Amino acid sequence: MRMKTRTIAPILAAFLAASALAAAETPVLKIDAAKPGPPVGLRYGLMTEEINFSYDGGLYGELIRNRAFKEDAKDPVHWSLVQEGGAAASISLDPAQPFNSAIATSLKLTIAEAAGKQRAGIANEGFWGIPVRPATRYRASFYAKAGPDFKGPITLQLVSDDGATVHATARIPALTSDWKKYQVVLTTTAKSTPSARNRLVLSAASKGTVWFSMISLFPPTFNNRPNGNRQDIMRLLAGFKPAFLRFPGGNYLEGNTIETRFDWKKTIGDIAQRPGHMNDAWRYWSSDGMGLLEFLLWCEDLHMQPVLGVYAGYSLRQQRIKPGADLVPYVTDALDEIEYVTGGPNTVWGARRAKDGHAAPFPLEYVEIGNEDQFDREPGSYEGRFGQFFDAIRAKYPQLKIISSTRATGRTPDVLDEHYYRRSEDEMASHSHDYDARPRTGPKVFVGEWATRVGAPTPNMSAALGDSAWMTNMERNSDLVIMSAYAPLFVNVNPGGMQWPTDLIGYDALTSYGSPAFYAQLMFNNYRGDVVLPVTAQGIPTRTWQPPAPGRRGGQPDAPAVAPPPPPPPQEVPTVFWSATRDTKTGTVFLKIVNRAAAPQPVTVEFSGLASVDPKGQAVTLSAASPTDTNSIAEPTKIVPVTTSIDGLGASFTRTFPPYSLTVLQIKAR
Ligand code: AHR
Repeated sequence: MRMKTRTIAPILAAFLAASALAAAETPVLKIDAAKPGPPVGLRYGLMTEEINFSYDGGLYGELIRNRAFKEDAKDPVHWSLVQEGGAAASISLDPAQPFNSAIATSLKLTIAEAAGKQRAGIANEGFWGIPVRPATRYRASFYAKAGPDFKGPITLQLVSDDGATVHATARIPALTSDWKKYQVVLTTTAKSTPSARNRLVLSAASKGTVWFSMISLFPPTFNNRPNGNRQDIMRLLAGFKPAFLRFPGGNYLEGNTIETRFDWKKTIGDIAQRPGHMNDAWRYWSSDGMGLLEFLLWCEDLHMQPVLGVYAGYSLRQQRIKPGADLVPYVTDALDEIEYVTGGPNTVWGARRAKDGHAAPFPLEYVEIGNEDQFDREPGSYEGRFGQFFDAIRAKYPQLKIISSTRATGRTPDVLDEHYYRRSEDEMASHSHDYDARPRTGPKVFVGEWATRVGAPTPNMSAALGDSAWMTNMERNSDLVIMSAYAPLFVNVNPGGMQWPTDLIGYDALTSYGSPAFYAQLMFNNYRGDVVLPVTAQGIPTRTWQPPAPGRRGGQPDAPAVAPPPPPPPQEVPTVFWSATRDTKTGTVFLKIVNRAAAPQPVTVEFSGLASVDPKGQAVTLSAASPTDTNSIAEPTKIVPVTTSIDGLGASFTRTFPPYSLTVLQIKAR
């Protein structure tokens, strides 16, 4: 339907009313290139945390699950006993033989019977399998110590789950009676077919007792970094060209309790000295192999700026530190963390970073204090905590820009982090003029977590359309909204891998894919221009949407229950959204059009203030036959941007946009 107004949000109502005055069959967008608006200040980045097996079982290259045997206090979960050809053995955790002070247990393998072709040992199942590719080098390492009765070599093998195929073998001839690290390269055969249905087996053919710890296996990593990241996911991200990385969370930064926060000092240095911690916010163990330095190296590899979230004395189960003397150690931790990131080798923590392998300081512009502190129910708590962190950081690092995780009035943050979740496509669209009306008097805005929630584990085309409408909102208002990061970023799509639906990038052990929402963002980011052009819209079509009853939006446990209010009245929501920007160097205009409707949508574009418009240009289109269409492991590129040459552009032209589509027109103009 067109322009029949029911109950609508005030800014949208004003826009639709103005639009309705000039209602016509074909919507018209009038673009005034003579009066460019603000520079395109908006930068697209990544928000990340350990959720949905983002690092362990995700980006972090480690293939062994429960490598230090700390995931469970009683059982060596994800490990199994191997007894072949009549061998007899047993395994158990052995806290009486601790590996070190960080890893106060080990795995004891006792082989009672093994000789000749008999083998006994241990096998790891990986994170929903261990990926094997042909002719590939895997770096394996482990710590072990042998009992006096153990004589044999240890054999390491990558073996298919059914035991039928041995992809790679290496041998350690003998073990010592003290803890020692052993390293081998396992090279798979040229005949190995790509598969995730494999295990790593460490076995022996002789009797005796062996203790193991920190058993690790890495495939080739991005930029060949030791302790590095998965290549396929890094390549996907590189194509997106993210400007920054907000880390380490999210709820993961806060933890459910102060004890289980992201305690950065325990995440640096040799992985064999990292205790790991229970990621209770998302209910699984974190190896902390992805520690502070690894986040920074990830930034370096993809040329992203770090946006460092510091723990601000509040954890999700309403545990908090009182501002004042009690908070001082946490403020000190944050200052130390900033020094670890930015300090020269003559500083305590800069020297520690150099010792950890990175002599050069990292660039840092933004620090965020806490995460979603609006969920702290103690009145005045964030004001006090924010003020104390703000003052200390500003005094020591006046050049840094400070982001508040919610509104704070005692000190003025440079940037405010806003999160928008749990919205359907129509709801996201209904908010896609919100920033047009936001007063420009407060701090700049970082939309640090947002997503249209349709589809799981990864968003479908409907979600990508809601996101696209929302991105026109941010882009048009990019004098105010300076940073954007979708969340969550990653999901392991295996059963049990997901804690939070609608995640930008999905993967299993072997392959990964970007969702339609990923490609929509990539298009917004890669065709940005540097200045916003003002657009006057007429005759924009709408459809009727029934908003849900308002309810809880955050991801926090323990948020107060809200009695369900009556459902609000229906609203009219546009099906067409737009944003125009220009590259001032080349003159190219980028016109983004979102058509959420099921039918092709003609749109008339009228330019003023341009000397000439080339009739030939390019259209980059993301579209689907149905809003429920999506990408997946089986169909990773079902919905991707398609670039075509187009004709018929001019100072005034009408072009028809496909159903369920986002299009970027590249219009060469002078
Ligand atoms: O992105 C999932 C969660 O949503 C984040 O951890 C938290 O900040 C938000 O509530």
